[in-house]
Amino acid sequence: MDYDIPINIAGLNLRNPVIVASGILGLSQSIFNRLYKIGAGAIVSKSISLLPREGYRNPTIVNVGTMSYINAVGLANPGAESFSKEISKNSGPLLVSLVGSDKDEFSDIVRKFSNLKILGFELNLSCPHVEKMGMEIGDDLNLVYDIIKLIKKDTGKPLFVKVGLGKSDIIEVAKVAESAGADGITAINTLRAMKIDIETRCPVLENKIGGLSGSAIMPLGVRCVYELSKSLRIPIIGCGGIMRHSDIVEYMMAGASAVQIGSLIGLKGIYSIGRILRDLRAHLEVSSISDIKEIIGIVHR
Ligand SMILES: Cc1cc2nc3c(=O)[nH]c(=O)nc-3n(C[C@H](O)[C@H](O)[C@H](O)COP(=O)(O)O)c2cc1C
Repeated sequence: MDYDIPINIAGLNLRNPVIVASGILGLSQSIFNRLYKIGAGAIVSKSISLLPREGYRNPTIVNVGTMSYINAVGLANPGAESFSKEISKNSGPLLVSLVGSDKDEFSDIVRKFSNLKILGFELNLSCPHVEKMGMEIGDDLNLVYDIIKLIKKDTGKPLFVKVGLGKSDIIEVAKVAESAGADGITAINTLRAMKIDIETRCPVLENKIGGLSGSAIMPLGVRCVYELSKSLRIPIIGCGGIMRHSDIVEYMMAGASAVQIGSLIGLKGIYSIGRILRDLRAHLEVSSISDIKEIIGIVHR
């Protein structure tokens, strides 16, 4: 099947704008290879820290109805050294997601990947459920600026910065990221949420609080992309709640140049990527859209 809906974002030529979001199948080269084969335009790895992280104990994920989840995996990952070995022979369109608790860690992580064939990096400033990581860093604007400057000094590859709905205003965080040299913004990550089991009278997740993803967050994601694209010059990747091709069109009309998909793959499996691309191509054809770029940010015009 032909998965070509070519798009250029931050200087990267992708065969289509559908990217697999971080945290969804993001740790094994053999799965990346399968995802490329079945159509993904690019893949973001699970967020990688300098040292390995075990993450939280089970349960780490709960289904909260209508195509939505709350997860608190705790950024479990094998660490930068081990993951760089895993992807040492990569040749596909992979972005490595970075997470850390101290600004000096980021240079060390980036250096582990500097000689590998990857597209670039995504900086996770928005994980909502791990202390001193992700969102707690994203809420400190000076730290955000310093981290991005450091990473950009260490790599010539594009850096996308993933923002979410934390304590700081998402537009402010993104503007700081842009001024520090970020090449693009990914919006949004999951949102702090909770599920209680009324029989056991306990929170379901071991960590009690997790991040909400899936259909429930789609309108929030679209609103953020819309507002971000009014304030920024760098491109935006829309993420959150995409379940069908029309959701991709919506994000792009709001101003996204590409999109990321997470929960759908958890719910419907990896072949949902190929299906959504097929439906997107059919939609473009029926709507006489010859180049998908035509619809990016169309609601602003
Ligand atoms: C199980 C799970 C693990 C995730 N892990 C990460 C992660 O490591 N880093 C990150 O930036 N986002 C992570 N996310 C967030 C997703 O990348 C995405 O931003 C979010 O789920 C919203 O998209 P969706 O509604 O399509 O799932 C995770 C999401 C889920 C469901």
